[in-house]
Amino acid sequence: MATSLTGQILVASLCLLLFVLLCPWFGYLWLPSSMRWWPSIPRGPFSALRLSLKEYSGSRSSEDGYREFSKKAEPFAICNPSFYPQVLLPPEQIPWLLSQPETILSHEKANEDVHALPFLAPAFDNYDHLELIRAVRNDLTRNIANTEDVFLDELRYITDEVLGHPGASAWQEVNLTAALDRIIFGICLRLFIGVSLCRNPKFVYYVKIFTRVTGAMMLFVSQLVPWPLKPVVGIVAGLPIYYYWVRLIIYLYPTFKERIQCLRIKKETPPADMVTWMVDLAMSQNPTRRVHISALIVRLALILTYPQVFLPVDVLIAMTENFFLDLLSSDPDRRYYNILRQEAEAAFTNRDKTQPISQSMPHMESTIRESLRLSPLSDRMLSRRVVQKGGITLPDGQFLSRGTWLAVAAVGVHRDEQTYEDPDEYRPFRFLSIDNDTQESKAMLVPVTSEKFLAFGHGRHSCPGRWFAAHAMKLIIGYILVNYDIEPLDKRPVNSVVGQTIIPQLDVTIRVRRRE
Ligand code: HEM
Repeated sequence: MATSLTGQILVASLCLLLFVLLCPWFGYLWLPSSMRWWPSIPRGPFSALRLSLKEYSGSRSSEDGYREFSKKAEPFAICNPSFYPQVLLPPEQIPWLLSQPETILSHEKANEDVHALPFLAPAFDNYDHLELIRAVRNDLTRNIANTEDVFLDELRYITDEVLGHPGASAWQEVNLTAALDRIIFGICLRLFIGVSLCRNPKFVYYVKIFTRVTGAMMLFVSQLVPWPLKPVVGIVAGLPIYYYWVRLIIYLYPTFKERIQCLRIKKETPPADMVTWMVDLAMSQNPTRRVHISALIVRLALILTYPQVFLPVDVLIAMTENFFLDLLSSDPDRRYYNILRQEAEAAFTNRDKTQPISQSMPHMESTIRESLRLSPLSDRMLSRRVVQKGGITLPDGQFLSRGTWLAVAAVGVHRDEQTYEDPDEYRPFRFLSIDNDTQESKAMLVPVTSEKFLAFGHGRHSCPGRWFAAHAMKLIIGYILVNYDIEPLDKRPVNSVVGQTIIPQLDVTIRVRRRE
């Protein structure tokens, strides 16, 4: 009896394994025969499997395919470690892609492919994040000027701790990722949650570990696990997320409770932070209902972990790191460091309280945009899934059935020489121009998205935190350049690609000293 049960389990497992291994081939059969493929068309089940497995270590397929096909306005398909193919559209088809309603091409469903939250944490109401997006888009962005003093206070406190206090002028070696991690987490937690918790080392530890564990599991389940296995692998991989979520609730519960009281009684003005904005939003939407604190904490935690596989605060860290890697490995004769330092010094010194400091640094603006162009956080953007029952016909006439995954090759777009002169070259002031009226330098703003600049996505689903992100990067980088000398790097450490996520090297050491 036991032997036959074992035998049945073995046969079932083998059948499942066979099915999983054949999935890349089924995906191929699903697409029209006219579809172009990069690097090559799968010739059979083994070839489809091999092409999918090749993508595990990250590759340049989307960028190379862009050169081969997208530049001729043709869509093309690539195999994926998730074992279903993805169709990448040429830039000409971006307006069409963005104009499709959610009921035909779903951003939400495509996000599931990219963040895997429904598999990892089905108990979280992932679609309830619209409030969160509203709090980020409206309240956080609108309060950029109001919160600048608090921002600067935490920036000084934490940066001096990490990189050296005034008077400590000896050179020291610092791991760049670890330093930016402490600085950026400190500031974001101060603005999101308030001063007492943001300086509580145990709480910060739990926030970071929650973020990292969730991020790692998202990356693993969404980009590296074949799709038929996601529901099972997801549940197991999601267990640590629940554990750390409970720890966060224990810490955050009193803060939320006190804020709800404060907003109900209306005796004193509550602090301008994410906790207040989220509670306020929840109370104004359902004035008669109880506010569920644990649900709000999930939402707040999602700000740290939500979009796609890239966690907003970690993305901010990675993008700031890319900025420093580009700047520190640039040609010292061009003195980019000094130009940016002088500009930041003037902006910090001549601070005009009517507008944020970050608005008066055009060279910095352009330099940040250039680093985002060269190293966006993913090589593919604008993901959508065909959800219309009968499928959809692309503008070039090719038919795609329901379930097909679409995107645009962002790195290809950002390195297209028809748009950007010498696209592989780091030219920090590329986005700078002279205002004809005032004769002053002005720059294309970091958060402005377009079909040619996809670092924050584009269209109605583009990153709602991008204005805050740009402001934060300018202040943090400006403060560091003004107050610290950093030795140049011999060469630019190469970013790695995991699945479709682009990650800067985590072990770069810089030599830094406080200026007199
Ligand atoms: C330089 C830093 C950042 C970059 C490069 C970035 C980039 C992105 C990208 C590419 C998306 C996906 C857009 C799409 O689906 O088409 C996204 C979504 C999102 N980002 Fe950011 N982001 C950054 C910082 C932030 C910050 C600081 C926050 C919050 C404070 C934030 C909050 C969000 C949210 C909530 C979404 C999901 C939007 C939705 O699903 O509609 N991001 N971000």
